[in-house]
Amino acid sequence: MLVIDSLEKRYANNDVALKGVSLELRAGEVVGLIGPSGAGKSSLIRCVNRLVTPSAGTIALDGVDLAHVSGRGLRRARRQIGMIFQEYALVERLSVMENLLSGRLGYTGFWKSWTRRFDGKDIARAYELLDRVGLAGMENKRADALSGGQRQRVGIARALMQEPRLLLVDEPTASLDPKTSRQVMRLIMELCAERGLAAIINIHDVVLATQYLPRIVGLKAGEIVYDGPAKGMDAMVLTRIYGDEDWTAITRNVAAAEESDEAAEPAAQRSTRSGPADAAYSLAATAVMAQAVTP
Ligand SMILES: Nc1ncnc2c1ncn2[C@@H]1O[C@H](COP(=O)(O)OP(=O)(O)OP(=O)(O)O)[C@@H](O)[C@H]1O
Ligand SMILES: [Mg+2]
Repeated sequence: MLVIDSLEKRYANNDVALKGVSLELRAGEVVGLIGPSGAGKSSLIRCVNRLVTPSAGTIALDGVDLAHVSGRGLRRARRQIGMIFQEYALVERLSVMENLLSGRLGYTGFWKSWTRRFDGKDIARAYELLDRVGLAGMENKRADALSGGQRQRVGIARALMQEPRLLLVDEPTASLDPKTSRQVMRLIMELCAERGLAAIINIHDVVLATQYLPRIVGLKAGEIVYDGPAKGMDAMVLTRIYGDEDWTAITRNVAAAEESDEAAEPAAQRSTRSGPADAAYSLAATAVMAQAVTP
């Protein structure tokens, strides 16, 4: 469904972030993207959702070349892509529900969308997603009153509001403790499996990556130097990606993670309660939102 071919990115200051990256993802396939700082992981993700414009190459999402599409075509393509960030990118002063509904806005038409009421379907979907990510009953809490793990769950639910086919995830666990990180990774993996979502997950923690992600892509200085199964992440591969280091601690963990195979854990039991869809969620907060986005 996603075919990246010979992708290059050179920034205006002549920094070359990507030097001919080619990568294919099947529908529902989840890939972990690892590599040292500056390798180009975020640049790759930003090229795919066109937060930056690639310098050369193509990015075909279901046959549409994201590298060259613009205007309405780009907006339509972006609706198929959900983003999850390290810093959650929530609007702090808004409630959880308002943050989720903002996930329906796509990337444009912000003011226009805020001034209309969200329809019952969106609200029902938001309640259902909150329930699914373990935040049932939290819809009226302000984003800035949540813990890091809860904030990331809001970020995940928001990314799913537009029913994307592809998730782009930039360091989802970098601000979380080890246990919360694992819960968040497990949640993302379950959601991808349930909904048949493909995902590129950019992650620094190699052990965490190999524990949850069956396929790992290693980037080094803008080039792919490994693309293969997580269990192939031995000391040689790690050295190829990161340079010389004593990798014993990590490779031991990779082997142990493989044995425990947490990724295969069954999805937790969950309820399917959905909220009062017809009780149109009051957007009296429009004024608050105006403040929230006005510097
Ligand atoms: N907006 C920008 N303008 C100029 N150069 C940039 C910009 N963004 C990234 N770069 C450069 O592109 C290269 C790749 O950066 P990128 O942020 O993609 O790396 P990364 O793998 O995500 O690193 P990290 O693990 O630290 O997040 C670096 O040399 C960086 O300095
Ligand atoms: Mg980055």
